[in-house]
Amino acid sequence: MPLRLHVNGTEHALDVPPDAPLLAVLRNDLALNGPKYGCGLGECGACTVLVDGVAARACVIPAGGVQGRRITTLEGLAGSGGRHPVGHDKLHPVQRAFVDEQAAQCGYCLNGMVMMAAALLAREPDPSDARIVQELSCNLCRCGTHVEIVNAVRRAVVLMKAA
Ligand code: FES
Repeated sequence: MPLRLHVNGTEHALDVPPDAPLLAVLRNDLALNGPKYGCGLGECGACTVLVDGVAARACVIPAGGVQGRRITTLEGLAGSGGRHPVGHDKLHPVQRAFVDEQAAQCGYCLNGMVMMAAALLAREPDPSDARIVQELSCNLCRCGTHVEIVNAVRRAVVLMKAA
């Protein structure tokens, strides 16, 4: 029986084992490469996706455990479902803010930072700097881009208020 996953607004029937990591299914079977493989242990945050709007680490979630749940990847944040590139003006405000603030060096952590920030701002539209830092503190950035990342989340707050 195929696994049914609802990803970025589309239902997929997939011939994958239910214990396959969600991250592997997203990347290998659905060609959604926004979420990254970092540690594979649920510790770095590079693989973060949203499950029913809540940030979750796709490397340690069995695909069979999220059938019937709404999964959103970095590609889905922009509303295109990852099927085609979108312009800067069509990006999610958090994505736009990260571009505007140039909040990346190697970019490997970026998926996790953006997804965590999007989940935070959906729950708390006007977080303090301390809340932003707290929320992102378990997402690792090896380049030390933390100042720009926090600036980007602050900018996203402004963009979302103006929308
Ligand atoms: Fe999933 Fe590191 S790759 S938390």
